[in-house]
This record gives sequence, C-alpha cells and structure tokens, in this order.
Amino acid sequence: MTVRRTSMHGEWSSRMAFILAATGSAVGLGNIWRFPYITGENGGGAFVLVYLLCIALIGVPIMMAEVLLGRRGRQSPINTMRTLATEEGHSPLWQLLGWAGVISGFLILSFYSVIAGQALAYIVRAAGGLFTGITVADSKQIYAALESDPERLLAWHTLFMAMTMVVVARGVKSGLEQAVRFLMPGLLIMMLVLLGYAMSTGAFAQAMRFLFRPDFTALTWNAVLTAMGQAFFTLSLGMGAIMVYGSYLPKRTSIAQTSITIAVADTMVALLAGMVIFPIVFINGLEPTAGPSLVFKTLPIAFGQMWGGPFFGALFFLLLSFAAWTSAISLIEPAVAWMVENHGMSRAKAAVWAGAITWVLGLGTVLSFNLWSEVTLFGKTFFGVLDYLTFNVMLPLGGLFIAVFAAWLMSRRSTVDELAIGDGLGYETWRFLVRFISPAAVIIVFLYVLGLLPLISKVFEAIFT
Ligand code: TRP
Repeated sequence: MTVRRTSMHGEWSSRMAFILAATGSAVGLGNIWRFPYITGENGGGAFVLVYLLCIALIGVPIMMAEVLLGRRGRQSPINTMRTLATEEGHSPLWQLLGWAGVISGFLILSFYSVIAGQALAYIVRAAGGLFTGITVADSKQIYAALESDPERLLAWHTLFMAMTMVVVARGVKSGLEQAVRFLMPGLLIMMLVLLGYAMSTGAFAQAMRFLFRPDFTALTWNAVLTAMGQAFFTLSLGMGAIMVYGSYLPKRTSIAQTSITIAVADTMVALLAGMVIFPIVFINGLEPTAGPSLVFKTLPIAFGQMWGGPFFGALFFLLLSFAAWTSAISLIEPAVAWMVENHGMSRAKAAVWAGAITWVLGLGTVLSFNLWSEVTLFGKTFFGVLDYLTFNVMLPLGGLFIAVFAAWLMSRRSTVDELAIGDGLGYETWRFLVRFISPAAVIIVFLYVLGLLPLISKVFEAIFT
C-alpha cells in the first residue's frame, strides 16, 4: 500500500543531503573516542571482528528498518510508531518505543556533551602549544588536570550544549547540510595525516596485529555485548535518531544504498582512529586499557612531536568537536520534533527545554569524573552506569523492537513499497536479516550476559533426558 504523507518539518533537499546528515550523525565521538578505547579494553582483533559482523548483519539491516519506518510515518518517532502501529492494525502502545528512544537520547547526550566539551577544551590546549615536546607523564597530567576540575568540565559542557541547541532551534536542515559537506572530508584528511604519523612511529605493525589478528581466547560474552552496543551507537541506531532523519527523506530514494554508504563511511573512520591511536599507545608504553581517556592521552603526544603540531592538533580537535556536534543534534531531534508536533511549541522553545534537561543530567557525568568518583552503583560511577544502561541495554533493546516491528508487524506490502528495491533477492535478504538474524543475535547475547543461557539449556536437558 502506498501512503502519501508529508512531514510538517519539511524535507531534505536531496538524497545527498540525507546521506550527509545521517553520516554527520553516525560519525562522532563513537568512532574516534569510544571505538579505540573499548577495543583496547577488550583485547583487540577478535573484538574488532565481532564489531564488524555486528555492523554488517545487525547494523545495516536495522538502519534500513529505521529509515523505512521514519519515511513512512513522517513524524517524530513517538507519533510515527503510533501512526504506523494503528495503520497496520496493532496496538498504539508501540509509541512507547518512541518514548524509550527519547529517554535514551537525553541520557546519551548528557554525557556525550561532557566528552565533547573535553574535545573543545583540547582545541585551546593544542593551539596554545601546550603539547609541544610532552612526555607520556605530561600528557596524563594535562588530562588529569582537566578531568579533576568540575568547573572547567561544566563550562565546556555548557558551551557544547549551547552550540547544539542553537542549531536544533534553527532546524536541522538549514546549515547542517553545508557544514557536513566540507567538514566531514576535512576530518577524513586529518585522520590520514595522523595515519602518516602513526606509520612512522615504528609500532604500526604491532598495532595492526593487535587490531586485525583475532585472538578468540580473549573474547568474553560481555565483550560481544559491548561490540554489539557499539555497533548500534556508532550508527546512531536504536533510539529514533535515524528514524527522525528518515522522516525528512524524499520519497523515491534507495534506502538500501544510502544505509550501506553511511555504514561504510562510519566504519572507515572508526578503523582509521584505531590505526592512528594504537601505534602511539604501543610506542609510548601506554596501557591499551586506559579507558575513556585513551584518545586524550595519546594524540597530544603525536601532535607534540609532529611538524606544525599546534596547528594540526587544534584543527583535529576542532573537527572532532564538529563531528560530535552533528551527532549531538540527532540525539535530541526526536524529542524536539515531538514537542513541536504535540505541544505546538516553536523549535526554539522546544530546543531550550530539551537542552535544559540534558544539561542538568550532564552534571552527574561532570561530577563522576572528580568529586563523585567514589560514588558508585554496582561498582560503576554515574557515568559508568549511564554508559552501560544506554549502550548495552537501551540501544540493543530499541533495535530489537524496531526490527521486530518492521519485519514481523508491518505487512510485506508496506515494506516492499517503502524500500523500493523490488520483491527480489535484495529485499528477501533484508527481510531475513531483520526477521531472524538481528533479533536472535540481540536475544542470544542478552541471555549469555545475564547468565540465562546455561540455565535454559539445563532446563532443556532436564526435559529431554
Ligand atoms: N553515532 C554517534 C557517534 O558515533 C552518536 C549518536 C548520534 C547516536 N545519534 C545517536 C548514538 C543516536 C545512538 C543513537 O558518535
């Protein structure tokens, strides 16, 4: 069945505009800050392989599902889910999926903004020549000084939130398009410059072995869950960000092609980040398991040694902040679109509300790095709890329900119509992946992590023997 709805928020000017905005959303701190440090924490190669499999088998099909739902519903994820569920003869309670996404968005942005604030702070530190000739100890010291100062962190977090809210208030389509078009390639070139440096360090081969030679003995189920959560996070899936961007997508564009393009671009940036950071880690005897501070401790050493370091360093952290900014916008867009639709608010007012909520939540992360670093729940700080809850629980669950809805509850005719890849092999592959593979993968990994799978197999054994 063909439905004709238009979005009250307008449309992207072209297919390219959507690809740029969605890539802007996907490429961010997840690729450059998080991917290297969780790879380091989880032992390298085998983890990277699982991550790549998750991108291809779970990420891309679910991204297609999200874009498809968004474009068909043409509203904020909450209203899209309600409209589509009703239209396909299911409970309007499916809108809860949209609500869960809005909550995930607030939670993720609250700490995302604090980390992005650190990237902003590093622009100033790099430009001022602070990194020139520094040792490993100096680099750690520079980071510690920032991390232990709640007022500084708060100031940068506030600045980043303000920047994000300005764009969101003006509407994501004006401005964002042009900016991504030039700055994304800029970031890529910067990564290649850094790759040149990394190759000259003498530890490049060791880093490549670490990243690409899988050692499965190092792999735990928790690591598999982390890899899966990262696949959702890095592609901006599981909370409606891509759904809301899909709702601005003009009718006849290929969802399959665009999704693959976005996933490839995103994966390239993440792998490049790993290839840049690990040589620096190994040659300087740094710990691969340093955690969230890894990128901030390694790259300054590189900028401190290379020709034109202050310039390249400042430029790099500027581009990283920019990449974080285009991602942050998409984390808050589902909430803002809903406030505009249901409460008739202006975008500006909605943006201020959403920003205020996120800003307050962010205080928890700011403090968890210093004054509250000893305050823990299940052995995790405030930031640690948010990180685990959003990446390892909320995004995979969101993705699971999106897959189930798109593949099991939407009629075949609706999805064929929306995907417009014909009824052939491509469509069948997609449907098979979202029907069976993606949901099963999420469920199995959850069961293992919760320790329930051994229990279930015992029950089966008991029944059948
Ligand atoms: N993908 C972004 C990154 O890698 C973060 C992001 C933006 C995101 N929007 C999202 C993550 C929606 C999950 C859901 O930095």
